[in-house]
Amino acid sequence: MSTRELYVQDPGDSRWTVPATGAARFTWEAMYPGEKNGSGRDRLLALYQKGKDKQWDAATRIDWDLEVDPKDPLGTPDESLSLYGTPHWDRMTERDRGDLRQHYAAWQFSQFLHGEQGAMVCAARIVESVPDLDAKFYSATQTMDEARHAEIYARFLKDKIGMLYPVNDSLKALLDDTLADSRWDMPYLGMQVLIEGLALAAFGMIRDTTTRPLPKRILAYVMQDEARHVAFGRMALRDYYRQLTDVELREREEFVIEGCHLMRDRLRGTEVLENFGIPPAEAAEFTERSEFLRLFRKLLFSRIVPCVKDIGLWGPRLQRAYLDLGVFDLGDANLDLLMAQDEELAEQLDAERFAAEESARTAEVADAIARGAAGD
Ligand SMILES: [Fe+2]
Ligand SMILES: [Fe+2]
Repeated sequence: MSTRELYVQDPGDSRWTVPATGAARFTWEAMYPGEKNGSGRDRLLALYQKGKDKQWDAATRIDWDLEVDPKDPLGTPDESLSLYGTPHWDRMTERDRGDLRQHYAAWQFSQFLHGEQGAMVCAARIVESVPDLDAKFYSATQTMDEARHAEIYARFLKDKIGMLYPVNDSLKALLDDTLADSRWDMPYLGMQVLIEGLALAAFGMIRDTTTRPLPKRILAYVMQDEARHVAFGRMALRDYYRQLTDVELREREEFVIEGCHLMRDRLRGTEVLENFGIPPAEAAEFTERSEFLRLFRKLLFSRIVPCVKDIGLWGPRLQRAYLDLGVFDLGDANLDLLMAQDEELAEQLDAERFAAEESARTAEVADAIARGAAGD
């Protein structure tokens, strides 16, 4: 089926073009994983090796036969919907509420899908523009990771939710700023740190609250890959930002502040409520007032703030902006621990699946033997 028919609103022209600036860079300095080159860049080559080892295929790792109810795709508590507890919610029939859950999940996962496509394009941009070969190698594996993620979210949306939303204006604006900038570190900062950092926190919150096995597995497996992406962004930027002047660092901080405001606005989901006849101003007010969403918004910065601090962007203006957003204290979160947990959780889900398959096989064999003994 054509995707266009599944869009709730007309996404407009089916192509979006962002003019590129900046140079394609080659290097004749060749290196490979495991080589003793004394360059001190072994960490990046090790990450490239890991990127190759950990590729997986959604067609075999994910059981797409798992059922999903389109009217309640995630099974998350209704408190997570901004309309919950308002007079609108009280007036809604159970059928309307089902529609709202479907729209909200479609909106959320559509932004994941569009973000993954953006990540793929940014990773490819990094392959082109980054000066060193080890970083190009690594980024090539990430480009493939992001392609697989976009593939998975597209399949989930089309086959299981049956509905898509166009890209959110704020996400589009940040993608545009990130890709239009000619400085080679900007795709890292905009994409790897801001857009992915935010997506990762959102994936994590849904992964940990959904009661449905299919979205849970999808999110856990995607997050296993994202842990490498964040590690790469941190490694590359931490080294580079040490060499920048104060003025150059302040420019990056301004970009981060602007990006964080765009990210906060991208999270309101007011476009969903507009489809239910609620004017934008009122919809925005509901998302502000909801206790649940206030906490959700704060937690969404849990992966960005410690990362920004870690790469050396922590000037007074940025600190002030984080205080205003109410997320300053997240700077002390332990990113390494969070990432290690993400990887473990995916492996644990695999182990559970293998154990379930194993016991199903054992039961089948026992059944066949019993039937044989009974002379069937
Ligand atoms: Fe991704
Ligand atoms: Fe990623």
